[in-house]
Amino acid sequence: TDAFKKMAQRPPFRPISPSDQDKLLLPPGFQYDVIAAWGDDIGNGEKFGYNCDLTVYFPIKGSSEHGLLWVNHEYVGSGALWMYTADTPDARKHAIEQYNVGGSVIEIKKTDGKWKLVKESRYARRITANTMMDLTGPACGDATVGHVTEVKGTFANCSGGRTLWNTVLSCEENFEEDAARWGRNSTHYGWVVEVDPFDPTSKPRKHTALGRFAHENAAMTLSKDGRLVVYMGDDSNDQYFYKFVSAEKYQPALGKANHTLLSRGTLYVANLGDGVWVPLDLERSPALKAKFATQGDVLVHARDAAKLVGATPLDRPEDVEVNPRDGSVYLALTNNTKHGNFHGQILRLMEAGDDAAAERFIFEVFAVGGRQSGFSCPDNLLFDKQGNLWVCTDISSSKLNQANTYETFKNNGIFFIATQGRQAGEAFQFASGPREAEMTGPDFTPDQRTLFIAVQHPGEETQDPQNPTSHWPYGDMPRPAVVAIRGF
Ligand code: FEO
Ligand code: CA
Ligand code: CA
Ligand code: CA
Repeated sequence: TDAFKKMAQRPPFRPISPSDQDKLLLPPGFQYDVIAAWGDDIGNGEKFGYNCDLTVYFPIKGSSEHGLLWVNHEYVGSGALWMYTADTPDARKHAIEQYNVGGSVIEIKKTDGKWKLVKESRYARRITANTMMDLTGPACGDATVGHVTEVKGTFANCSGGRTLWNTVLSCEENFEEDAARWGRNSTHYGWVVEVDPFDPTSKPRKHTALGRFAHENAAMTLSKDGRLVVYMGDDSNDQYFYKFVSAEKYQPALGKANHTLLSRGTLYVANLGDGVWVPLDLERSPALKAKFATQGDVLVHARDAAKLVGATPLDRPEDVEVNPRDGSVYLALTNNTKHGNFHGQILRLMEAGDDAAAERFIFEVFAVGGRQSGFSCPDNLLFDKQGNLWVCTDISSSKLNQANTYETFKNNGIFFIATQGRQAGEAFQFASGPREAEMTGPDFTPDQRTLFIAVQHPGEETQDPQNPTSHWPYGDMPRPAVVAIRGF
C-alpha cells in the first residue's frame, strides 16, 4: 500500500555520522542497557562467555519485555590476554578457552524501563566446546566422521537463526584453528547446531544434512508446498551460497518434533551464472557418485562437492535474510580483498515462481559498499516487519587502524536501508560501535521497541592488557557484551 511505502522508506531515527570514539553511539532519543558482559554470572553460577555474536530473542508468554536470549560465543582471540598468563599450562589454557565459547541462554526482563538479566533463572545455561551433542542426518555414524553418532561440543559459533518451532540454529564457522589446537577431529565441527533454549536438559543436535563448511548463518522459511527451506552462507574467500530443502512438510502442530525435518532433504548450492540451485545429491549427480563413497561423505566435504558441480565462488558470503514483505533473499558479500573487492555488496535473489524450493532463480545487486553508500563490509543482516534492512558492518580492526581505503568509515556500525520507496537502497547510519568492535547478531523484540546487539571484540588489537585499545563498556578493560537498544 502507499501508506506502507511511505512508512518503509524513511529511517525511524536521525542518522549519525561515522565516529572513531570508543563508545556505542546512537541517534538522539536512543539508549542502551548492558544486559550481560563477558564473565558475568548468568544466574546459575555459570559465566557469560567471550566474543558474543548471534542473539535470538524468545518471548516468554508472548512478551516483548520478558524472554530468553540465546547468545553465541564465537572465539577467544585477544580475550586470552585477560584469561590466563603465558606460563599457564596448555591443558589449563585449553580448558579456559573451551569454556568461553559456544553459547549462553539467559533470561532477561525489562523492569522500570531498563533491560536486566534475571538472576536464578531456571533456563540459564551455558553450552561450551565440551557439551555433548547428537549428530543427525546422513553423516551421523558415517565412516567420514569416525562412525560416531555424538560429538563433543561446539565452537566458532558465528551467526545462525531461529527455527519456526522456537529453537535456535547456531552456526560453526571458523573452527579449523581451535580444532587443531585442541586435538579435535575437524569433521565433528563446521555444522549447524540446534539448541532448545526452553529445556536446559536438552541435548543439542548437529544437523549434518545442512552440510559442513564455515557456516555463517541459517535463515529458515517455507516453500509454497510447506517444506522447510534454510539459506546458508559459507564465509570464506571464493566459497559458496547454499540452501537446504526438507523432504517432508512442516507441521506446526508437531512443535519441536519438527526438528526431524532437518535430517532429511536436499542440500543445494548456487550457480549464479546459470541461475540454478544445483543439488549436492549423490543419486542425482554422476560426478558426485564417482568421487564420494556416501551421501554423508558428500556432506562432510560439501565445499569439494560444490566445486565439483560448478558452484559460483563468491566474495565471502556472510549473513542471509528473507524479506518478510516479498520473500526475496538478501545475501551479504562482505568483501574479497584478494579480488580487490574492498567494500562488498548485498545481493537480492528472487526464486522462480516466488517459491523458496525452486531450482531456478534470478538475482540483482541491491546495495554496494563504498564511499558513495557510506557503509563498507556488510556482515549481519536483519529485516524489520516493514521490510527494511538493518546491516551491521565488519571492517577488520587491523585494517581500520591503518591509514588506508577504510579510513573514512571509522568504527564499525549499523545501517538502515529501505527496500521499497524512493530511498530504497540508500544507507543511513544508526549506530557506531566502540573501538575495534563489531556490532553483531541484531534481533528485535516482536513489538520492535527493543533491538538486541552483541558487541564483539572491542579492543581486539590490544597488545598490553594493562593498556587496552578500548575501555568499553565500563571504563577499564574491554568486555564483549550484549546490549538492548531502546528508543524505537
Ligand atoms: Fe564470524 Fe563470518 O563472521
Ligand atoms: Ca559474521
Ligand atoms: Ca565478518
Ligand atoms: Ca565476527
